[in-house]
Amino acid sequence: MAIRKVGVIGCGLMGSGIAQTCAQSGYETIVREVAQEYLDKGMARIHGAWDMMAKKNKLTSEQLEANRERLSGTLDIQDLADCDIVIEAVIENMEEKLRLFPALDVALKPEALILSNTSSLNITQMGAVTRRADRVCGLHFFNPAPVMKLVEIVRTINTSDETIETVREFATSLGKSPVVAKDTAGFIVNFLLIPYLLAAVRMYENGLASKEDIDTAMKHGCGYPMGPLTLLDYVGLDTTLWAAEALYEEFKEPLYAPSPLLRRMVNSGMLGRKSGRGFYEY
Ligand code: CAA
Repeated sequence: MAIRKVGVIGCGLMGSGIAQTCAQSGYETIVREVAQEYLDKGMARIHGAWDMMAKKNKLTSEQLEANRERLSGTLDIQDLADCDIVIEAVIENMEEKLRLFPALDVALKPEALILSNTSSLNITQMGAVTRRADRVCGLHFFNPAPVMKLVEIVRTINTSDETIETVREFATSLGKSPVVAKDTAGFIVNFLLIPYLLAAVRMYENGLASKEDIDTAMKHGCGYPMGPLTLLDYVGLDTTLWAAEALYEEFKEPLYAPSPLLRRMVNSGMLGRKSGRGFYEY
């Protein structure tokens, strides 16, 4: 199946990064948001990233112009009707996704693929509320989406081989290294990453070490680009909490149980970088 036009649902941190990646890889890309204010904010983030790349000579002025021309925004799901692939990157809330998937199913042409960027929710269930469960799978990007090489392709029990192959080729055309995982909470990365992040929060909460020392230890002791608490702020404490809750719900293992501090930080709006405050201030 030839992919020409890509739709992205949601222009938050992940949606804007995904739309940026698709447009700069040569795809006509349209992003849909629910309110003009959110769309403007996400589009400004993408154009800001391209301006920064142009300043660093990573984009010529012709490439910058072509990227801008390939990207558009809308508030109307109908404007995605002729997309070949649509990637959903809305809030990690199952009710929200179960409202969106049937609406997409009605709006899109029958052969289009619907992919979810969820990091831990049940994609089989999302596919089941459409009439094209064989053309639904996960395509999970990592933050920052334009930079991180990995994508996880998540196969549900209904996804066809043809869909997996089309998505694998598409991911490769975005410059990514795809891996394939079964649709179980956390897939590969979060199954391993979330318990590590939660353990770092518990360590800090229990006063075993300062936040700076926990971060320095893992950065310099294990060669990670960021310490766990800096990474939590980067990914978003709310996103991490949702992922932990989904893993705990699926496996009922204490290592996936969110710590009281993480939940309270989210309750008080300390979401990390995006809210200006998490473990650190921004
Ligand atoms: N578009 C284009 N380029 C971008 C960009 C964007 N949106 N954001 C950053 N970059 C570029 C920068 O311009 C920079 O380019 P140059 O090297 O050419 O100057 C490059 O990326 C690196 O950025 P920085 O120099 O600002 O900083 P850095 O070297 O410290 O790298 C980082 C930043 C890539 C984020 C690095 O710290 C890192 O890899 N951190 C770990 C991130 C991680 O683990 N992400 C996964 C989180 S888990 C997740 O997302 C899944 C989930 O479900 C929870």
